[in-house]
Amino acid sequence: MPLKLGVNIDHVATLREARYRGQSEGEPCPVEAALICESVGALGITAHLREDRRHIQEQDVVELRRRIKTRLNLEMGNTPEIVEFALKIRPEIVCLVPERRQEVTTEGGLDAAGQLTALTETRKRMNDAGIEVSLFIAPDPVQVDASMAIGAQFIELHTGAYAEHFHRKRERQIELERLIAAAKQAHQLGLQVNAGHGLNCENVPLLHIVPHLVELNIGHSIVSRSVFIGLEAAVREMLKAMEGYAG
Ligand code: PXP
Repeated sequence: MPLKLGVNIDHVATLREARYRGQSEGEPCPVEAALICESVGALGITAHLREDRRHIQEQDVVELRRRIKTRLNLEMGNTPEIVEFALKIRPEIVCLVPERRQEVTTEGGLDAAGQLTALTETRKRMNDAGIEVSLFIAPDPVQVDASMAIGAQFIELHTGAYAEHFHRKRERQIELERLIAAAKQAHQLGLQVNAGHGLNCENVPLLHIVPHLVELNIGHSIVSRSVFIGLEAAVREMLKAMEGYAG
């Protein structure tokens, strides 16, 4: 199966909010960006509705739901307000992430093992509404087992440490081995495996040695590249880096 690309369009909204915060309109529009990504081969769109609404706003998610033709992946913290919102919007999938207001981006994986009851309850409510559930976790065997116990359909392996150590060969190898082991364990348990965070055209090719990956969720590097080469070309460039994945 070819590796699917899900584009995270949060950073398009970050740019808009830098100028138009609190206004109902402004550029650049994340929904338009999502449609461009789809038109050149992205198979999913990811948006993170954060509690502090620093980038994506509710109305963006409503419009994404209405206008995109692929899959909407709503990233969210497990809080009552956002859970109710997700149940109303009905994305194809939600990815539950830890959320700390002070962080620049989603810095660590979810402590699935430490929140079995709360995450299982949300997982059930989402599944009952026809929404699949993914858990954003570090490549840690305890968290993979917990994701299985919670009943998630997917895990998304946090590739932040891999990306961070990419230029240090020994550390990079350790991170790759953790990702490989976690992907194999998850696959054996019947979980589907996505990955994301900090990925770019330079570090994606080596990630091909991680087995069982279904989708990569990539945002910052694509939006950054689009400043110089345009969004269509930036998505195409990433699709090229993902080509030939053997599974
Ligand atoms: N996946 C998850 C769960 C994330 O929280 C993020 C960051 O918002 C990404 C993927 C995309 O990371 P990046 O913007 O570094 O590509």
